[in-house]
Amino acid sequence: MASLLKKLFGRSEPRVAKINPLGVEVTVDGSQTLLEAALSQGVAFPHNCTVGTCGSCKCRLTEGRVSAITDFGYTLSKQELDAGYILACQALVKGPITVEIESAGSDLPAPAQFSGRIASVEDLTHDIKAVTITLDRPMEFVAGQYADLTVAGLPARSYSFATAPERGGRQDISFFIRKVPGGQFTEKLFSGALDGAEVAVNGPHGHFYLRGGEAPIVCIAGGSGLAPLLSLLQHARKNRVRRRCVMLFGARTQADLYKVEQIEEIARDWLPSLRFIPVLSHEPADSGWTGLRGLVTEHVAAALPEGERAEFQGYMCGPPGMIDAAIAELTRLGLPLASIHYDKFTDASTGKR
Ligand SMILES: Cc1cc2nc3c(=O)[nH]c(=O)nc-3n(C[C@H](O)[C@H](O)[C@H](O)COP(=O)(O)OP(=O)(O)OC[C@H]3O[C@@H](n4cnc5c(N)ncnc54)[C@H](O)[C@@H]3O)c2cc1C
Ligand code: FES
Repeated sequence: MASLLKKLFGRSEPRVAKINPLGVEVTVDGSQTLLEAALSQGVAFPHNCTVGTCGSCKCRLTEGRVSAITDFGYTLSKQELDAGYILACQALVKGPITVEIESAGSDLPAPAQFSGRIASVEDLTHDIKAVTITLDRPMEFVAGQYADLTVAGLPARSYSFATAPERGGRQDISFFIRKVPGGQFTEKLFSGALDGAEVAVNGPHGHFYLRGGEAPIVCIAGGSGLAPLLSLLQHARKNRVRRRCVMLFGARTQADLYKVEQIEEIARDWLPSLRFIPVLSHEPADSGWTGLRGLVTEHVAAALPEGERAEFQGYMCGPPGMIDAAIAELTRLGLPLASIHYDKFTDASTGKR
């Protein structure tokens, strides 16, 4: 459908697109997306899925006009749209334009193809499993990134690394995977049909990683979104990074909390300034839970000291609704969009319901 729309409405004269801060210009013919044009002309434009779901090709339109093949709003937040962000893989260019990409961290490893086998699948909660894959050779990645997994007969699915990287790469890579009812990959995984299965792994991908500086950090995780944040914290611990950190973890009930001891141990043994705040949205009123209740995003303001909020860098991962609410809340509290980093765990239903 998207390619039909592109053919019908995309035909027009070639346009010039300037890509900053690279300072390069590409010619975009009327049937191409901005991303297709950039890649075909040898520009290393950040991307992964090419279908508008991963957010990797996010860039800011600073001049000119584009139209969207698929609504940018399924993946980008309202705040990003208002600030002029677009998805290059879904953008048809309507005249001369200028866009700005985030310059990729210079030490992000290039993605490559690996083959692997599912070595273990362990329950973390009733609907989240820790999955470890043994690769044919070590993969280098940066804490916070993700890989695309493909098992025979199914489309590729993205999962964030749940452990810290190692110097020289990791041959055993782990993920936290939540069961999505009706989901092609996760239903199969949870049925046990993939135990020991061969997996094609492409990675690493993504621009979710700890930015430098001394700024304090607020992490917000929902469900399996804890994986990249744990990776990030473990890596920061290995590297003796000592920054003030608030970690909010949203779950439904006490039964949905996991890896709590590991986070508490990080706080105890490494970073006493780490405040870990679990928030439960569906815990029975009479359960004896004395912690916070409600939506995790309702508790962000109280967790950050007034007067210092705009100094924080925000890192969040989890379901699209939580990420959108968290971006809205962090920008309301004064964090600039440039200080907010996230991976939204979109799936095939995103934007279709
Ligand atoms: C960058 C990134 C990182 C991610 N990291 C993680 C992670 O660490 N852990 C994790 O658990 N997940 C993660 N995800 C999500 C993951 O990639 C999968 O999308 C998720 O596991 C679902 O895959 P699935 O094949 O089981 O479901 P899918 O087959 O994609 O189906 C998902 C849901 O959509 C419904 N559906 C399918 N087609 C349609 C349609 N046409 N219209 C409406 N509904 C439809 C299905 O019934 C199901 O309910 C990440 C996603 C991204 C983009
Ligand atoms: S490459 Fe454009 S959203 Fe994934």
